This record gives sequence, C-alpha cells and structure tokens, in this order.
Amino acid sequence: DKILSGKHLLITAGPTREPLDPVRYISNHSSGKMGFAIADMAVKAGADVTLIAGPVNLPTPDGCKRIDVTTADEMLVACEQAVSQCDIFVATAAVADYKAVQVAENKIKKIGDELTLTFVKNPDILATIATRTDKPFCVGFAAESQDVELYARGKLKNKKLDMIAANDITADGLGFNSDNNALHVIWDDGDKHLPATTKPKLAEALLLLIANRFNSKNIV
Ligand code: PMT
Repeated sequence: DKILSGKHLLITAGPTREPLDPVRYISNHSSGKMGFAIADMAVKAGADVTLIAGPVNLPTPDGCKRIDVTTADEMLVACEQAVSQCDIFVATAAVADYKAVQVAENKIKKIGDELTLTFVKNPDILATIATRTDKPFCVGFAAESQDVELYARGKLKNKKLDMIAANDITADGLGFNSDNNALHVIWDDGDKHLPATTKPKLAEALLLLIANRFNSKNIV
C-alpha cells in the first residue's frame, strides 16, 4: 500500500504578497518549489492533496486540487475552508509577517527624501490552524539564518506543532528559490537530518517521516 493512501493533506506554498498601493507590494523570495514538490510527492504516495498557493510561476502537480491566493489573509481563509477534511497540514509557505496598516487607494507619490510606512502583524496561519479543536497533524517549516535548531524548537512548542522542518537559509544554493534544500526535522521526542538534495527527493523523505509519526500518534 502507498504510505499516504486515504490521507488528506493540506499544503501551503510560495510567498504571500501584501499590497502597499495599486502598483506596489512587499513579498519575499519563496518560489513555491518546496511546497509544490511536497504536494506532488504526496499525490504519488496516495494522498488526496489540497495545495494553497501564493503567487508563484509553477504548474499544478498532477492530481492535486490547487487554490491560488495573494495575501496572508486570503491564505488563512482558504486554509480554514479546507482544513476540516484534512488529516495532515504542511505549512511551507513563506507568509509575510506584516502587512501595510492601510493600503493606499492611489499610487504613493514620490515626495520628499524619505518614506515611512506602518505595518501591522498578519495572522499566523499555522498557529491558527494548530489551535483548532479539530486540528490536523501540523507540520511547520522554520526558515532561519541563525540559531536554527533553537528557533525551530521554539516554533514547534509555541505554535503547538507535531513536527517542524528547520531550514538553514544561509547555506549557498539551498532554501529560497533554489532547486535543492536540506532540512533538520524535529518532533517532541526525536529528530532527523535530511541532507542536501533536490526538493522532490527531500519531499519524499519528509513525507516518510510525517507518515511514520502520524501513524504512531494515531494508533487506535
Ligand atoms: O518556496 P521555495 O523557494 O522552494 O523555498 C522554500 C522555503 C525556504 C520557503 C521553505 O522551505 C521554508 O522554509 N518555508 C517557511 C518559510 C517561513 O516563512 O518560515 P517562518 O519561520 O517565518 O514561519 C514558520 C512557520 O509558520 C512556517 O511553517 C510558515 O508557513 C508558518 N507561518 C508563518 C507566518 C504566518 N503569518 N503564518 C504562517 O502560517
């Protein structure tokens, strides 16, 4: 039998884009490749997959249901609509932590030598999903540039996750917008280093850890 047959996975991928005015936005370098590779491999492992994607330039993996969104607020709504049928939630999206307090109705004019904008916190999608009473098995990602394991363990605990995949984004040729990546996967009583390889191969190895951990937590 395939390792995820009968399971429904909800996966977020890519960046979010937060508008400033009708022509500008803030975002980040996430390409969506990591999340799309996980969606593709999960379908191949027998899962039913819903993929919530920020603005990316990638084809939809065969067999998965894709919902496109732009902002963090939209990504949260889409996740909340899909989550009740889900067994496993994998949050690979690089969600913007802040959005403009107010989106300017007209293009911001070039006046003066400095420009100050005020931002407010976006909702934390993963933390919101992980506090539901019907929460699925929750897997977070942690993109870190220092004290990678320490910060990842903090997110595992604070966001009440089942598993976190720590992503050291300082390594050359890995992480954001590249074809390869490496992860340190951590759960409450164990961890495993998945060394640098292609994102599809890494996705396969991560899904194996997720399936094993999910099954050992859900023995009835
Ligand atoms: O898309 P690629 O180019 O392939 O790059 C892959 C990646 C580097 C983006 C990916 O591997 C990765 O590390 N994703 C997480 C990026 C991130 O923003 O991490 P974070 O440490 O800020 O967030 C921690 C976790 O909370 C993540 O699971 C994130 O999806 C989630 N989160 C964060 C903020 C927020 N407002 N809502 C969230 O759900």
